Amino acid sequence: MKKEDKQTRPPDNSPETPPLINPAYSADGLCRSFLEYFKSKQHRVVASAPLLPEDPTLLFTAAGMVPFKSHYIDPQNAPYPRIASVQKCLRAGGKQSDLENVGKTLRHHTFFEMLGNFSFGDYFKKEAIDYGWELSVDVWKLQPERIWISVYLDDDEAWDLWTRRIGVPEARMVRLDKADNFWGPVGDTGVCGPCSEMYFDTGPEQGCGGKDCRPGCDCDRFIEFWNLVFTQFFYTEEGVYDDLPRPGIDTGLGLERLAFILQEVKDNFHTDHFLPIRQAVVRALPDGREPAAARQPVNVAADHVRALTFALAEGILPSNEGRGYILKRLLRRAVTKLHPFGVCRPFMASAVDAVVAVMKNRYPELPGRAGLVKEVVTAEEERFLSTLEQGLDKLQSIIKRSQKKGLEAVAGKDAFLLYDTFGFPIELTEELAEEVGLRVDVDGFTAAMADQKTRGRQQSFHIGGSGKLMEFVELRELKDTKFLGYDSLICEAAVCAFRIAPDPAGKGKKEAVKNRPIVEVVTDRTVFYAESGGQVGDVGLVRFGDREFQVAGAYPDNQRTVHRLEWDGRPEPEKLSRFFSEHPTGEFAVDENCRLATARNHTATHLLHAALRQVLGDHVIQAGSLVDVDRLRFDFHHYQAMRREEIARVEDLVNGVILDDRPVFHEVMAYQDAIDRGAMALFGEKYTDEVRMVSVEGFSRELCGGTHLKRTGQAGLFFLKQESAVAAGVRRIEALTGTGARRYMSGVIDSRNRIADNLKVSADDLERRVSGLVEEVAALRKRLTSKKGAATSEILDQGVRQAENINGIKLVSVEVDAPDVPTLRQYGDRLREKLDFGVGLLCQKRADKPIMLILVTENVIRERAVKANELASKIGESFSLRGGGKPHLSQLGLGTRQDFKKIQKFLKKILGAD
Ligand code: SER
Repeated sequence: MKKEDKQTRPPDNSPETPPLINPAYSADGLCRSFLEYFKSKQHRVVASAPLLPEDPTLLFTAAGMVPFKSHYIDPQNAPYPRIASVQKCLRAGGKQSDLENVGKTLRHHTFFEMLGNFSFGDYFKKEAIDYGWELSVDVWKLQPERIWISVYLDDDEAWDLWTRRIGVPEARMVRLDKADNFWGPVGDTGVCGPCSEMYFDTGPEQGCGGKDCRPGCDCDRFIEFWNLVFTQFFYTEEGVYDDLPRPGIDTGLGLERLAFILQEVKDNFHTDHFLPIRQAVVRALPDGREPAAARQPVNVAADHVRALTFALAEGILPSNEGRGYILKRLLRRAVTKLHPFGVCRPFMASAVDAVVAVMKNRYPELPGRAGLVKEVVTAEEERFLSTLEQGLDKLQSIIKRSQKKGLEAVAGKDAFLLYDTFGFPIELTEELAEEVGLRVDVDGFTAAMADQKTRGRQQSFHIGGSGKLMEFVELRELKDTKFLGYDSLICEAAVCAFRIAPDPAGKGKKEAVKNRPIVEVVTDRTVFYAESGGQVGDVGLVRFGDREFQVAGAYPDNQRTVHRLEWDGRPEPEKLSRFFSEHPTGEFAVDENCRLATARNHTATHLLHAALRQVLGDHVIQAGSLVDVDRLRFDFHHYQAMRREEIARVEDLVNGVILDDRPVFHEVMAYQDAIDRGAMALFGEKYTDEVRMVSVEGFSRELCGGTHLKRTGQAGLFFLKQESAVAAGVRRIEALTGTGARRYMSGVIDSRNRIADNLKVSADDLERRVSGLVEEVAALRKRLTSKKGAATSEILDQGVRQAENINGIKLVSVEVDAPDVPTLRQYGDRLREKLDFGVGLLCQKRADKPIMLILVTENVIRERAVKANELASKIGESFSLRGGGKPHLSQLGLGTRQDFKKIQKFLKKILGAD
């Protein structure tokens, strides 16, 4: 092969056959040679870290250096001074997102693999540049004359190393600014530095043709394949670039781009480890054919399926916030992109298989998780597809309306409607609107969302059917309410503001039973826990002088606590003002028993969470919880029903910790310290710098503001009452503790005893007796069925004897006693056997809405072209009934038993007309 023939691209219309590639240039081969090369340069090879980063403030691992961030700050404590890795990365959402670029260019991905070599205070620019060049040109044989180099504006040192030491001509060197050639930090603060990038020129035919087209141009001609970062600063919260103690190196080489260059294929999506995924997506298109216009959508879908496979395999699951929301966006974007091309059913599962097949060599954990991944994507696809069409219609009408009005943007409330009713992520609406030149009013969308949340809160807290909210009347300066309730249950507090709650009937609330009017008061301090984090507000008493009121609950209003007082008499604003000026303070006392019962459920919720993670895996993440006085409810991400043994293990673990009577600690500390100590934080929750960490010794650590037991033994007993599904991928556990658990169990035992009494056996013999009864009933049923069968056979025979002859076809109509459709079908088969040339109508007797079968014998189908399914559709049309089936047998659901008579007549007419 002549040298100039190398590293060329096939034409765009070349067939989609897998590339015949040199194994050294396969994705697996390239990873191998990369790691071997750096091993020979004294680098320690380490495995990829998960996509789920340790640092909870980051969405995903978005670069090879993420797992090593701290080594740059503290090189002395780095386990190795030089490391090399192939890191799986996800750039979707957050600062480093490439999500929108996927599909627009041929070189961007959400999920990709980054080959990287790293130095922590060890080698610096010279070696990094030497290695980059040697591996590219000497080992991988990239044509040197097609390599371009960029350096940061004033980085003369790098410029000289490239031009003088390596010999790259200045004509192929460019200086780029901060946007291109300064890298990091990955979060808001962190290590960063100027960088130098290696580009490969894919040839003018791939480019935009612009006269300034060179590295840095947005088109697909110059492919940046390797980024060498000279990590030398730490960017602080104050916006200052502090020098690191010793500079380091962080390089990132995109595997997909390198494979594209060396495999000489059309683009990244046609490399050996991408094409099979792409082809799996193409197979989902009608007839498995890919029209030219589908090329970009197919790329997008293939990319997103790959990202979803890896993220889901790690246990990150679709949800409405944080990382889960990004996954939902990816999935819904892929589905929406393919929908216009006729993909109206779930298609991802087979593409997941393709991802697993091409990636399993390097990620052997994938095959074992493929089942779960496929279940999740299919369930999510089905869910979104069920509203997509309607959503797209709605969007069309919104767009038309907006255009007619001459608006430049889709209104926020419309975008919210699409989100809320049809599940369109706002970014998807933005992308679809952009296709017709419209923006979306994102602020309006956020406001509509906030508005809905407020309304939801008001409904659940204090707005009843109709009433408008009365403003708070301020009596003194309104400050944040100081919470004393972790340590005491009684305190004297000053009333700062009050209002009359508009819903004395408080629909659905416990206090409504008494139907007392509610007065809400905000105080300067309180012992009452205000409903939050899933825990209900405290109840109790308040005493003002000689008057005492029940406190029916407490909820937060920003940092203030609002207490709901059951007023005695008719509250009026003036009278209340007077009352509170005469009684500026009151003695607030929490109901101790309720508080303790709630604490039992709250501590048990933490135990349950930790136990679920132990039994089911780390993908179990809290999706919601309710901690009430008499029960707890815990929603979590998990994609299948729990098995009985799993439930038992969870119960055992939790009860074990309760029996151990372990101490429960709470400590206030810096957020980062808590995370470093392994506390579970809920992603998407806003935590302040100072957090409260609740730990159960040796078992659980969570960030939590709720009120807890002092020792686990106080919970007494934990009983998992029910496990069920709430939504795709979200399970719900309802459980009881303490007295509630004991009462429930007593109830179960009582009922068991009553059943035993009824059956006149001892409770211990109950199981045996019931099994005996079940067998007995089955035997009786069998006898009955055979008796009935004989009787039915007789009825069928009689029907056949009385058959009418319509144009030579025997028409038999019979009503039979069939308790269910399978039995009816059995009778149907028998009837067909008994008919030699005919049509049978068989209808359920004794059913309000009976099922009717139409049977046609094979010879009638053949000789007279009468088919049961066609008869069913004619009947269906005339009688507005639903039904269908096959030529020899079809089924119709009748509205009433009278329909059967009418249908017989109708059928006679049809057959007669034939
Ligand atoms: N951190 C740099 C990047 O992500 C180089 O690894 O491009």
